[in-house]
Amino acid sequence: MSGPVSLELLSAQLDQLEAEAATAIADAADAAALEQLRVSLLGKKGRLSGLLGAMGRLPGPDRPVVGQRANQLKSQVQELLNSRRTNLDDQAMAARIASETLDVTAPPSGIPTGHRHPLITTTEEIVDLFCGLGYRVEEGPEIETDHHNFTALNIPPHHPARDMQDTFYLEEGRLLRTHTSPVQIRHLEQTPPPVRIVAPGRVFRRDASDATHSPVFHQVEVLAIDEGLHFGHLRGTVMAFLRAFFGDLPVRFRASYFPFTEPSAEVDVQWKGRWLEVMGCGMVDPAVLEGLGLDPARWSGFAAGLGVERFCMVRHGIDDIRRFFTSDLRFLEQF
Ligand code: DAH
Repeated sequence: MSGPVSLELLSAQLDQLEAEAATAIADAADAAALEQLRVSLLGKKGRLSGLLGAMGRLPGPDRPVVGQRANQLKSQVQELLNSRRTNLDDQAMAARIASETLDVTAPPSGIPTGHRHPLITTTEEIVDLFCGLGYRVEEGPEIETDHHNFTALNIPPHHPARDMQDTFYLEEGRLLRTHTSPVQIRHLEQTPPPVRIVAPGRVFRRDASDATHSPVFHQVEVLAIDEGLHFGHLRGTVMAFLRAFFGDLPVRFRASYFPFTEPSAEVDVQWKGRWLEVMGCGMVDPAVLEGLGLDPARWSGFAAGLGVERFCMVRHGIDDIRRFFTSDLRFLEQF
């Protein structure tokens, strides 16, 4: 700064600087603008330095007066800059908080969607295949009468077949059904033949739980009654079903015994080099039809029953039936 200087002039210029600085700082829109202001006001080539340079040309006694005032102004401006800076930071934070509102009471968006249990999908697949053959779905109660579960299926009291199907007995001759076969009886009690039904459901036995046994498991029952049905129809139906479900695995029919079918067979599929029993079946015993008031000379038919767990285990290579019932997500999530 050149030209004449005086105490009055410098004081006035310092006053003006103070006023302008205050307004400019208050108006600064962001941190970058503030920094620019700091440089232009307090920097080496800033306005305050200019005024201090001019101070050298004042009469000696006036210098400390201006010097003190200039120093005061410097720290004053520094403070204004700092507080405006804090102010701008606060505003930025407030704006950010407002734009990023978090509702801690909102339900989490990431609840994983479940899916159907492998036993359900296997049951549905089996039932679907029979529906494709013209069967309809029937269901029966899990709490059964002794009559429907045993006697009407040609298993009178004290018949040895009851031994293999010990169950949980309730009051008044009722019990937890040991198989889905009683649905055959219930359906025929209500519906005159011809019938073709498939009956999925949960069954119960007094079995200790191990890798292949569970006191609760699932079956699908199949029943067809019509005029002229013979073992060829049974075999054709079972083969068509097994091929659709398992693909081209070898299948064999083995003579067997069930009180409610005659003749009876068990069906095995070859799997991993072994014969694995997958279902029981047979021609409905005339005694069962007679018990229902149906004339065996006119009506005949076949029935079959299969365990859903076994089908599901073979299909998916599952080694232990207990995995179905322990609700372990590491297992269930694989399906
Ligand atoms: N109810 C039999 C069981 O649980 C399975 C069975 C065998 C069902 C032969 C049938 C059948 O309908 O014909 O062991």
